[in-house]
Amino acid sequence: MNILILGSGGREHALAWAVTQNPKCEKLFVAPGNAGMALIAECVDLDIMDGAAIATFAFQNRIDFVIIGPEGPLAAGVADQLRAAGLLAFGPSAAAAQLEASKAFTHEICDAAGAPAAGYARFDDAKAAKDYIRAQGAPIVVKADGLAAGKGVVVAMDVPTALAAVDDMFGAGFAQTEVVIEEFMDGEEASYFILCDGENVLPIGTAQDHKRVGEGDTGPNTGGMGAYSPAPVLSDAISTRAMDEIIRPCMAEMARRGTPFQGVLYAGLMIKDGQPRLVEYNVRFGDPECQVLMMRLGAQVLDLLLQTAQGQLDKAQANWADDHAITVVMAAQGYPRSYKKGSVIKGFEALPEDSKNMVFHAGTTAVDRRIMATGGRVLNITARGDNLNEARERAYDMVAKIDWPEGFSRPDIGWRALK
Ligand code: AMP
Ligand code: GLY
Repeated sequence: MNILILGSGGREHALAWAVTQNPKCEKLFVAPGNAGMALIAECVDLDIMDGAAIATFAFQNRIDFVIIGPEGPLAAGVADQLRAAGLLAFGPSAAAAQLEASKAFTHEICDAAGAPAAGYARFDDAKAAKDYIRAQGAPIVVKADGLAAGKGVVVAMDVPTALAAVDDMFGAGFAQTEVVIEEFMDGEEASYFILCDGENVLPIGTAQDHKRVGEGDTGPNTGGMGAYSPAPVLSDAISTRAMDEIIRPCMAEMARRGTPFQGVLYAGLMIKDGQPRLVEYNVRFGDPECQVLMMRLGAQVLDLLLQTAQGQLDKAQANWADDHAITVVMAAQGYPRSYKKGSVIKGFEALPEDSKNMVFHAGTTAVDRRIMATGGRVLNITARGDNLNEARERAYDMVAKIDWPEGFSRPDIGWRALK
């Protein structure tokens, strides 16, 4: 098969690596890709938001399957455009991608499905939202309704912070037309990844990430500074409850509405006293959670994504090694605030290259055979082991070999699970 992956981050590099492990993959294209993906695939300069241009490229290059990595093109309807053009594509329709794009929509689905989630109220007016916050008290959570690249959620520990968040979201910079105010849920957070073909569901793994930039989970939020799989808190019993009480009923509700979900559902769960509740849905793989899932699943990923796109998950089975994987993000100094682009990264030749040690590139560009950092999150140093500690040691051994003074990583990825 000729395959095209859309995206340019560590998530897409990990997907590309897994896909090329599968003998069904004859030729792999990535758009736009990065320096790491360029080593295993042909990078093409396509605008991933332009469904018509992607379809044209796909026909010209006899692409059999398109895998859409990030949420932007999904929410914009690129999967719909590709399928309408007769292409096989992995990823939900714009209507089903509302599960990530709109917090209010997800609450409606959970209500209809009876799925446990935070209590909430919706407001299209700042004054009413603020009156409600004053009446409820803190802690309380304020969410912008649309896709906001992780910036649309304020977990307020006091009332003034929550009130300021409302003003900010309705203010000129943000210009929200609706906010959702949620009950603060206490507990331990974990992510559950489930393939869905519109009708059938197949869980493919659990993970936890570290969102804060600093050691001990402190400092500003980021896209994720590291992750590990499995997530110990998502035991078999709790995973089963999450499937029975949250995932299956929500997927059935989406189908009942005539907007079946096809793709990977990334459920953020809050777990307390054995009860999982939904924090949020994303309609794509997590980044960097995907990197650890791909390490553990390997070549079968292509078969599973194909079965998802073809509506054949009832025949599918996911087999994963009874092992652990971890990924440590190396970021440019300054991230998530402002950082410099263009520093040179060295030391790749000193790294082991086998099925237990992988470097996935996130924000890199190759210039004259040198690897340059061109993003905030730049490399994802990923390793497997029989236990988390072994995986962690492997990953940090690799981090130590990377020669990049302008970069940094958190030294404590996995600490909660290792505690
Ligand atoms: P989201 O963008 O919806 O993932 O929210 C970002 C983060 O905010 C989540 O990963 C949680 O840590 C936190 N969060 C969101 N909603 C709630 C809630 N209702 N209660 C507690 N924490 C929340
Ligand atoms: N790592 C969090 C995310 O992908 O949204």
